[in-house]
Amino acid sequence: MNMLDELELVPLEEAARIVGKTPHNIRDYLQRGRIAKYNDKGEKIARAKNGELRVSLKELRVFLALVNQGDEKHHHAGLHPELGFYGLPEYQRTKHVHRLHPYLGKFIPQLVEWFLSRYFEPDAVILDPFMGSGTTLVQGNEMKMHTIGIDISPFNCLIAGVKTAKYDINKARTEILDVEKRVANFSKRLAGEQSPTLPLFPDDELEEVKASLLAECNSQYLREWFAPNALLEMLYYRRLIPQYEYQDLLRVVLSRAVRSSRLVPHYDLATPKKPLPVGKEYWCRKHNRYCVPIDNCITKIHAYSEDTARRLAQFDKLRSDRSVTIIQGDSRKVDLKAEIAQTPIAGRLIDGIFTSPPYVGQIDYHDQHIYAYELFGFPRQDELEIGPKKRGKSKQAQKDYVDGIVAVLRNAYSVLKDDAKVFIVANDKFRLYPEIARLSGFKIIEEFHRAVTKRTEQGDDPYQETIFFMMKDL
Ligand SMILES: C[S@@+](CC[C@H](N)C(=O)[O-])C[C@H]1O[C@@H](n2cnc3c(N)ncnc32)[C@H](O)[C@@H]1O
Repeated sequence: MNMLDELELVPLEEAARIVGKTPHNIRDYLQRGRIAKYNDKGEKIARAKNGELRVSLKELRVFLALVNQGDEKHHHAGLHPELGFYGLPEYQRTKHVHRLHPYLGKFIPQLVEWFLSRYFEPDAVILDPFMGSGTTLVQGNEMKMHTIGIDISPFNCLIAGVKTAKYDINKARTEILDVEKRVANFSKRLAGEQSPTLPLFPDDELEEVKASLLAECNSQYLREWFAPNALLEMLYYRRLIPQYEYQDLLRVVLSRAVRSSRLVPHYDLATPKKPLPVGKEYWCRKHNRYCVPIDNCITKIHAYSEDTARRLAQFDKLRSDRSVTIIQGDSRKVDLKAEIAQTPIAGRLIDGIFTSPPYVGQIDYHDQHIYAYELFGFPRQDELEIGPKKRGKSKQAQKDYVDGIVAVLRNAYSVLKDDAKVFIVANDKFRLYPEIARLSGFKIIEEFHRAVTKRTEQGDDPYQETIFFMMKDL
């Protein structure tokens, strides 16, 4: 048998049909490098031209057998078989507004759905005191529940607010595409294109406009992490935002584009260490070839404008009219009673919590979005983050962490119903949560252990996390 026969190469759709998966599943395996991309000559390829892509049935079967073994192993290790969400394709994990902006450390919407649908009824009031990018709020709203989210980071509140806001969908689309067009015209001007369809300003004023944009930029970070034209394009976009109604939405589109336009390697968008030199090739581990750092921002603005408008429209069809409340502040201190009093659910108590707090010493939540803080000048409150990476994982850091989470739960205690159900998703390596529950007046009812094989914005390394189900210890 020759090499080609042995690989059993077939087009993607056929492979999906033969192994009983969807084409989306197969694309997901390809994207995550679980199986290789081939052409019909049996050569491995990085990118397929139209109609060229083949996958190897042999490789696919080996991979699926390993997945099954893994599922079995997890099952025997006491991991919840349903909560691993094995085989859930990427496009579902990042469905509609969940992909409006990257966020390191978010949980997948299916995990929220799984618990909310089993433990709560429509109209329930759900609190997430560590709201992050708002996954609980989006899913809760979709399931006709009232939601309240708190986060210390203003940018996270902005993302969550933009995801959950109710829009005039046509207007939102028009605004997003209009700014995109104007920045695209500006970008052409920067590239020296002359055309009567580019009536932004007379040619001789271009230098003046550039100088005035740079004068508006007093961030050393922005000057270092972006190529010159990328910087000008994003500053130009920022200048246009006040002319529109959905300004926060435009800020999120721009932030997402800006994040992807930094002078960083493709394989390290989440935690880049330092900027790459402009225009210089580097070896790209993600694409397996030499790449050049991006030198503009408009490419990403193009990529994300239509995408954002489409995602908003998808969620608009699913969303409910239940209230969504977002509070920017320290969950240890926020006066929840007073805050709720100002919402459409004034006077109601909370039916449950679904949240994933920071874990000890893992992520600096403000810092991961430094580009947005630098671009928009949002005030930072890093020192109020619980368990930040910069404070490490020492015994003292663990103790401070326990104090922090206990303070949050105690603060929520008085606005929770007596039979409220509290779900806390934690990678509790140091086994701190039994003590946290006791110190804050709760008892653990059940622990669900799940394998995390695909967090939406984190690496692929599997680890375990626990969902602690607690209730008041009355
Ligand atoms: C693990 S993330 C939550 C992610 C969220 N589940 C999602 O899907 O996007 C933890 C969040 O807690 C926030 N946080 C940390 N300390 C806080 C504090 N003292 N008060 C309120 N939020 C805090 C961080 O800013 C971060 O967004």
